[in-house]
Amino acid sequence: MPIVEDMTTNPGACAPAAARVAVVTGGSRGIGRAVSLKLARDGLAVVVNYAGDTAAAEETVKAITEAGGRAVSVRADVADEHAVAALFDRAEAEFGGVDVVVNAAGRLALSPIADLDLAVLDALHRTNVRGAFVVAQQAARRLRAGGSFVGFSTSVVGTQLPAYGAYTASKGAVEALTLTLARELRGRDVTVNTVAPGPTATDLFLTGKTPEQIDALAKAPALERLGTPEDIARVVAFLAGPEGRWVNGQTLRANGGLV
Ligand SMILES: NC(=O)c1ccc[n+]([C@@H]2O[C@H](COP(=O)([O-])OP(=O)(O)OC[C@H]3O[C@@H](n4cnc5c(N)ncnc54)[C@H](OP(=O)(O)O)[C@@H]3O)[C@@H](O)[C@H]2O)c1
Repeated sequence: MPIVEDMTTNPGACAPAAARVAVVTGGSRGIGRAVSLKLARDGLAVVVNYAGDTAAAEETVKAITEAGGRAVSVRADVADEHAVAALFDRAEAEFGGVDVVVNAAGRLALSPIADLDLAVLDALHRTNVRGAFVVAQQAARRLRAGGSFVGFSTSVVGTQLPAYGAYTASKGAVEALTLTLARELRGRDVTVNTVAPGPTATDLFLTGKTPEQIDALAKAPALERLGTPEDIARVVAFLAGPEGRWVNGQTLRANGGLV
């Protein structure tokens, strides 16, 4: 028997359930990818943003759609306000609005401050600071009531390891804007929080480190292992979902017990 509803007698039957919609920047790889997959499993339609690696973005979208979810990929540099506005336009056109924004796009550069190439600093801060503001700006303008914004810092803001100065300075800016934005959105029923992971097994963390360095950093948390992208995705899903509604304006260190 064909599965066709009679729309004339039951007009609501074929309409898709009113799904919530997420924009995940840096959603194609690493933590952002795990966040995209988790939010899709939780029933959200997902706009998977990325900067350059189209194949990775398409792979993430495929993993979501093959599991029965809804997703599209959109290329946009988070620091480019016109590209980010177009990203949100696409989310609204494709899925009808935006309920969750996760700004996972980020870069890392390591150097002692004395040797830091200021061009590297500018590029890092363009993505991590300017990008955070550009994405937060669109989120503030467009998130629907009941929505959530989740930004990304790092636990290194607390551990203060040498060589991380440019990176921690950029993520300190993300933490600083969190409560400010939460307060600016008073009356909108939108939460704003930041997740600060510890060492997490992604390209960003693993690239350029020796096995010994990775081992030492993996042993640092009380739980004595690296975080996984899925560990972090569950925290983001909590903050973005109904169970996390009373958490607002906070930075949550998700790191297995790192001091
Ligand atoms: N991994 C860790 O140990 C760790 C710890 C603490 C905090 N974090 C933070 O967690 C977030 C995710 O990190 P990750 O480890 O998942 O990184 P990752 O594996 O390197 O993935 C980075 C993602 O961000 C995208 N991206 C980079 N620059 C972008 C830009 N200008 N515009 C749009 N997208 C951009 C990349 O897209 P393309 O592939 O297309 O370039 C990719 O999807 C970052 O904010 C990072 O600082 C990570």
